[in-house]
Amino acid sequence: MIYLDNAASTKIHETVLKEMLPYLKEQYGNPSSIHRYGRNARKAVKKARKQIANLINADPSEILFTSGGTESNNMVLFGVKKNPESRIITSSIEHDAILEPCKILTKEGFDIIYLPVNNYGLVDPLILKNNLTENTSLVSIMFGNNEVGTIQPIADLAKICKEKNILFHTDAVQAVGKIPIDVKKLGIDMLSISSHKINGPKGIGALYVRNGISINPLILGGGQEKGLRSGTENVANIVGFGQACELARVNLLDNSAKMKGLRDYLSNKIIQEIPEVTINGHPVNRLPNNVHLTFLGVNGEDLLIKLDENGIAASTGSACSVQIQKASHVLKSMGFSHEQITGSLRLTIGISNNLEEMDKVVEILKNVIKELRSMSPFKEKYSFY
Ligand SMILES: Cc1ncc(COP(=O)(O)O)c(C=O)c1O
Repeated sequence: MIYLDNAASTKIHETVLKEMLPYLKEQYGNPSSIHRYGRNARKAVKKARKQIANLINADPSEILFTSGGTESNNMVLFGVKKNPESRIITSSIEHDAILEPCKILTKEGFDIIYLPVNNYGLVDPLILKNNLTENTSLVSIMFGNNEVGTIQPIADLAKICKEKNILFHTDAVQAVGKIPIDVKKLGIDMLSISSHKINGPKGIGALYVRNGISINPLILGGGQEKGLRSGTENVANIVGFGQACELARVNLLDNSAKMKGLRDYLSNKIIQEIPEVTINGHPVNRLPNNVHLTFLGVNGEDLLIKLDENGIAASTGSACSVQIQKASHVLKSMGFSHEQITGSLRLTIGISNNLEEMDKVVEILKNVIKELRSMSPFKEKYSFY
């Protein structure tokens, strides 16, 4: 198999797994316990917190462990202190882990604004500025889009919020570990991270909350994580997540350059060898591992099945949307037609992919697209084959 669905999840790194195993076997203590098992677990959690903080230039005291990107996003939307008239501004292309909480907040009477995006999936900072009111308590705009890979002008957006003293959160689940992120330099108040997108274990993530910001907890109990996220810490996952962040930090530039090289090679070759294809998302401001394409005359679901039969794991967009088969809200917001949305494919590269695989993918894709177009109701359009 050639795995090109790294935006959905990644393979756990060998070193990460090795670091985790002792905490699943002999080091099973509870970090709250006084004895040495507890002390060892506490020490491991402390080390991981520092490793995560280092990746984004935060202080360890600003890192809260959560069960992943979804919980981190929920924690921001529900946890930020608001008054009944509060406005919350987000974008129309966010992940459902932002959009679904927003639906609940709308029902509760909050004023939620969804900023539009252009054809590349970019939010315009000026539009954000024009939508800020005295009652705005939070702005949440994602860093890199999980479907089309477009990277937002985060520093500009954060600066606009800072000028008005409004909290700025970013869902950086797809961007962390792929591009350098310095929360202090970028002026970010809160940031969501997920471990399984960066070769760490699933079910663990973090929320960076700048010191000085006070939010309400979602989960109450024993008071772990400074009372903001109760429940015995998932020590093995935390250790693995910490190690994944450490590896991502040390290898960031190399990994990013490698993925970018493969991405550009793959996109160029697809354009050269397959007729009538478009590459979507911003041409420059994009995640180094994302290739998002539209093949007119092809049904994306059929394409995925054919690719799977031929040994390629890909996706049409957000992994979470596949089960409910809804048309991508991201592509709709970018102004795509129904036919364009239907014919879309997302290939996301990981740290272990190689050039030979890219060649194979293009070869298979070429044949599969030709075959699917020959069966299309609009097949006369593709008579050039
Ligand atoms: C942009 C974005 N936010 C949030 C999430 C959810 O993260 P997790 O799977 O860790 O809950 C994802 C996962 O696909 C994502 O791509």
